[in-house]
This record gives sequence, structure tokens and C-alpha cells, in this order.
Amino acid sequence: MVVVVVVERKMQPLPPPEHRRALRFVVFMAVSLLALSCWALVNSRINVAMPYSAFVMRDVVDKTPALTVTGVEDRHPAGLDPASSTSVPATSDATSGSVKLSGPVIRREPLAGERERRERSETRCDADSAALRVYVYDLPAEFHFGMLGWDGKGKPAAWPDVRDARAAPHYPGGLNLQHSVAYWLTLDILSSALPPGTGTGSDDVVIRDRPCVAVRVTNASLADVFFVPFFASLSYNRHSKLRRGEKVNRNRFLQAELVRYLMRKEEWRRWGGKNHLIVPHHPNSMMEARKKLSAAMFVLSDFGRYSPHVANLKKDVIAPYMHVVRSFGDGDSPAFDQRPILAYFQGAIHRKAGGKVRQKLYQLLKDERDVHFTYGSVRQNGIRRATAGMSTSKFCLNIAGDTPSSNRLFDAIVSHCVPVIISDDIELPFEDVLDYSEFCVFVRSADAAKRGFLLRLLRGISRDEWTKMWMRLKKVTRHFEYQYPSRSGDAVQMIWSAVARKMHSVQLQLHKRGRFQRTGSES
Ligand SMILES: *[C@@H]1O[C@H](CO)[C@@H](O)[C@H](O)[C@H]1NC(C)=O
Repeated sequence: MVVVVVVERKMQPLPPPEHRRALRFVVFMAVSLLALSCWALVNSRINVAMPYSAFVMRDVVDKTPALTVTGVEDRHPAGLDPASSTSVPATSDATSGSVKLSGPVIRREPLAGERERRERSETRCDADSAALRVYVYDLPAEFHFGMLGWDGKGKPAAWPDVRDARAAPHYPGGLNLQHSVAYWLTLDILSSALPPGTGTGSDDVVIRDRPCVAVRVTNASLADVFFVPFFASLSYNRHSKLRRGEKVNRNRFLQAELVRYLMRKEEWRRWGGKNHLIVPHHPNSMMEARKKLSAAMFVLSDFGRYSPHVANLKKDVIAPYMHVVRSFGDGDSPAFDQRPILAYFQGAIHRKAGGKVRQKLYQLLKDERDVHFTYGSVRQNGIRRATAGMSTSKFCLNIAGDTPSSNRLFDAIVSHCVPVIISDDIELPFEDVLDYSEFCVFVRSADAAKRGFLLRLLRGISRDEWTKMWMRLKKVTRHFEYQYPSRSGDAVQMIWSAVARKMHSVQLQLHKRGRFQRTGSES
């Protein structure tokens, strides 16, 4: 338009020079304004379009769709899931992408620099980065959190909101806690599907730092292991007594239901349960169902009450008891000279077969000045006394009772009291990665029963030698802590790692068995 005006003006007789100058100025201003508005328009378009398209491109590049962390698709944390990956090309149109992804995208990539982006992707845990991909059965609440008073809100496949650690259902305290392994594993694996950085409480920082050993997948064909979230130990603790009107107690009822549930599952039938993970940590838990489900990998405290066909070290994982005394963590604890008691033992003395060595040792040690060896269940105000006793003793005795293992070993470890293990059949947690001889003293039962043998051995351990073991105890204590949110190297992560190692040999078996499935012959 401006141009047309200029041309028309030129046709007319020449105006005076001052008019021509004014006209030239007006034309210059008009052209400048036009250029400026064009630039502004283009620029604003770039600003709107850039974040989405840039992010879409990046995500296509690093093959981890943003949908993994948006919560839109938290049922498919795998990132491999075709549903979420097909939606990535669809978002290459910036406008449709912005509509679909705007909320989460802005939260995740607000002008994030390269460094920040890299840090974030490192803290994200998905099926690609985890060592173990875990499928969790959506058992009804009565098998797990229902026992903790959580009602499940009537939905069949519901799980508690685990974003706020303090709001998660609590396990009953006291001695029940010793076998609470299934509870900690379940909380941890549920939280693995949360986007990093979520959480409503002050604990969300810790959830973001969740180690990436195991991750939950909802696509069964991606799973390395099928986790059965039955709180078997609590079921034994709480529901073993027959209530009025019941023909079988609730513990038995739940086990029967569980067997029925699993036997109907395609995933169980496929490999006969071999790639399933069940946690009957209490030696008496799942007494009725353990044989029927024995193909599965168990997480146990020991093999004392199992026949070797049902449970053995080849397929099963030994997990620590949760300690009940106060833990020193990796912090300072009384050193050699601040521990006046040489050897400490407190527990029941008269036990069934296998625990005879306790009685023998009691006779040998009861009159020694610097030995604390007494009866007493932990029940009567015992936890506080045990905490005090173990933290003022150099050595803590772990003597086979009616089962080869006991919580005392783990109470001793977190008290930094060097354990003396007198239990020939004991199996120790994570022994393939931990060398217990660095922080424990092992004594054969036959030797311990000889007069004078044990005291001579313990008095012969020098201050330096003892201190070396004590330093090592400080280092390993964290491997025996159960907590939620879980932290790197704690008992929860150690168990997942142990399961992952064991699954390798299970998978070797399964793959070998599958060699000829194409040609039809069954082995
Ligand atoms: C699960 O994963 C497999 C293998 O990657 C894939 O073929 C299948 O379509 C997936 N199933 C669902 C429901 O996403």
C-alpha cells in the first residue's frame, strides 16, 4: 500500500523539496514499522512452539518418552511400551503435542540446561536402567495392606498412595517388625512407578533419590520376576488363632486363596511359578501353602523349618530380620575400651532340639564376671535393655535356638557388637557379596561346648583386631536397615539385587527348557 502511494505521488508534479523530505521520512517510518511487526510476530511464534517441539525432538533422540514420567502413563513405566512410544511421533506436530503434554512438559523441562537434563534422566528409573523388572500382582487388599487397617476403598486392584512416606499404612511395631520384609519390598516397588521428585511430604526428596535396582512393570511380558505381595509373616502373627464362627483360621484361609489365585494365572502356569517371588520370612509363615508354591523363589530368614525340596539356597534368598534395638547406623558407637562386657547373650535358654548348645554354654559361662548370659524374652521391656547391653559389649553371642537364625545377629550388627556365630546350619543374608568373616567370629558348636574354648578365643582377640571388625561393622550396618523410602545399599535394595542375581540362573534354566518349544517336544 505504501509503495502504491509512493508510485502515485511520483506521477504527480514534483512537490517542493521540504515536502519531498517529509514524504521520504514517512515512507522510511512505515517500512521500519512493518519490518518490526513482522519480526515480533515471527519471534512470538517461535517462543510458543519451541519448548514442545524441542522437547519432542530430544525425547525421540534419547528414546525415553516423556510420557514415562508424566503420570499419564504410569502404568507403563517401562518406556518400551508400544503404546507410549507410538504417541511420540504423533506429538511431532507442535500444536497437538502442546495440548496433550503441556502440563507435565512444562514441569519437567522448564528451560532446562543440558546438565540439569542429564541429572534428571540419571535419577529416572525405568525398565531399561533397572537390574530387575518386577510385575506386581494386584492381590486384593486383605493379602497385604488390608491387614494394616487400610481399606482399599473397595476397589479390587487398588494400592495405597505411597507418595508421602508418613501417610503410607504403618506396620505394627514391636516384635512383629522383625519379619516385615514383604511390607518394605512392596512399598519400595510401588514407589518405583512414581515420577522422580514426586511426593507430598518432606520425604519427597528421598523418593527422588530412590536407587534404581528394581522397577515395577505393568506389562507382564517385560517382567523378570512376578512379585506376590502377600504379607505372609503378618498373616501368621495376626491371624493364626481360630476366631469364633470360623472353621479354619484366617491365616490358612488366605493361603488357600492365594494358591487358588496363582494356579489360575497364566503367568504362574507358564513356567510353573519358577519366576515368582514370595516372602514367607517368618519361619512359621505359609506353613500350609509353602509346599504347593515351592517352585517360586522365597525370601526367608533361614531354612530351618523347610525340607530341602521346598526351600534351598539354589533358588531362594535369605534376608535379614529387621533389627529391634536402636541402630548406630554408620555413626560413632562405644569403642573397645567403652565396652566393659566381654560377651553378651540374652534369650530363652531351654529350647527344643538344635538349641541344646545354649544350655551347655549357659552352664559354662554363667559364673564368668565379664559375661552377660541370662534368660529373658525380649518381650518384657527387653528391647531397651538389649540396646544397652549390646552397645556395652565387645562380642554378642548368636547361638542356634529352635531355628538356626535369629534377630539377635542383626541386633548385634547395628549395635556394632562383634557377632560370635555359634550355629552350624546358619545361612547368612547376601553372603555372595558380603564376607562375614571380616566382622563376625564363627565357632563350631562342638568347639563352643568345650570347657574354656570360647573364652580363650575371645580373650585372645586383640584390641586392634577387634577394632578392625568394629570399623567394618559400621560400614555394613546400612545393608541391614529396612526403611521407606529405601536408600542405596539398604536391606531392601540388597534383597532386590540378590533376587536379580538369582534370577539369572533361573532364566538360564527357563531358556534352556524353551530351546525346543518351536519343534513341539516337551522336556
Ligand atoms: C508388552 O510388551 C510386549 C513386548 O515388548 C509387546 O509385544 C506387547 O504388545 C506389550 N503389551 C502391552 C499390553 O502393551
